[in-house]
This record gives sequence, structure tokens and C-alpha cells, in this order.
Amino acid sequence: MTSSEFVRELHNETARVLEGLDRLELVEAESGNQLDMPNLLRIALKNELEASELAAYWMVSTTEIDVKLGFARQAGDEAKHYRMIEKLLSDRGVDLTSFNPIATGYSKLFEYLKTLPDTASRLAAGQFTREAIAQKRNEQFIRLCEARGDKETAALYVDVIQPDEGYHHLLGRSMLEKYATDAASQERARAAAQRTLQLAEELRGIAEKKMGVCQIPGC
Ligand SMILES: [Fe+2]
Ligand SMILES: [Fe+2]
Repeated sequence: MTSSEFVRELHNETARVLEGLDRLELVEAESGNQLDMPNLLRIALKNELEASELAAYWMVSTTEIDVKLGFARQAGDEAKHYRMIEKLLSDRGVDLTSFNPIATGYSKLFEYLKTLPDTASRLAAGQFTREAIAQKRNEQFIRLCEARGDKETAALYVDVIQPDEGYHHLLGRSMLEKYATDAASQERARAAAQRTLQLAEELRGIAEKKMGVCQIPGC
């Protein structure tokens, strides 16, 4: 199939899986869970750090100049998100001086993504899929902030973080249209995207079990 047809198929498949998150949101809303905002934002810090580090790691070994620069831009954006969330927390008196988001190690998803050797897989998994998941989760997280009357956190996500995550996803989409042009690269990209969705769902399941919350902010 053409790369445009391939990207459309990938989009439909991702959207179908992510619809499941809408149903989960209702469950949490009904449970009246009150996990505190600092803990949710600490999870967000870890996600942002991993996203930044992964993009920087891939930048080095990517040969296509436009993709390389796309990863560089993403690495910078995710680092900026980290600092903005950190500032919001410290303005609220949360002491992060001894906080290290990777003290307990990197996530299984990060470890998996790092192993992807080719551009099409990286774009499909790291930008197209991971950023689509982030956008979906952030939409839910924004609604949670609004429901709790936390306008400041909601505004940070609406005004800055979400537009950037949307840009990262679209970057993955346009670069896939350019580079996932043959059956072999499309097959690798499809497999990497599916595995990413599975691992993200596992991570969300673990967080939900541990903390009883579905609205985990993405990055
Ligand atoms: Fe992002
Ligand atoms: Fe981010």
C-alpha cells in the first residue's frame, strides 16, 4: 500500500484502541478517586523525562536530516514541559530537590522503544503512537484538573503541553508518509506501534492498580 494508506490505517487502529480509555474515564469519575495532584504530576515528570531522553538518543543514530531535527525539537519540548511542571509544583511548595524521576528505573516502554533500530519504527512507535496516547491521556487529565477546580494545571496543559504533543504526533505522521514507503518498513512500523500500545496499556494498568487512577498525564 502507499505510505498515505498505511498512515491512515495506523491512525484508525490507534484511535480504535484509544477509545477504550474513554470508557475507563467513566469508571474513575464514578469511583470519586482523589489521588493528589503532586503525585500525578510526578508521574508526568517521569514521562516527560523519558520522552526527552528517547528523542535525544534517537537523534544521534538517525540519518535522515528532517527526522533527526524532529527528534531534536521534541527532546527540547519535553525538557521544557518538565521544567514547567516542576515550577508549578515548586510554586505550590512541593519540594523536589531530592526527587529523581528515574531513581526507580526507566519504564518498560522506554526500554522497549530504545531497542527500535530503524526510522519507520521509531516514528510509528515513539512519535505517532506514543504522542497520540499522550494527547488522549492529557485530554482526560485536563478534565480531571477542571473537575477539581485546578485551573492553573489545566491551563498549562491546554496552552503549552497539548499543542506541543500534537505537533510531535503530526511530525511522526508526516515523516511516516515520507519514509514508510515499502512493505518491509510498514510491517516493522506497524509491529512497533502495536507493541507500544500494549506496553502503554500495561503501564496504565499498573498505575491504576497501585493508585486507583486512570487519568495519568502523558508527555
Ligand atoms: Fe511529546
Ligand atoms: Fe511533553
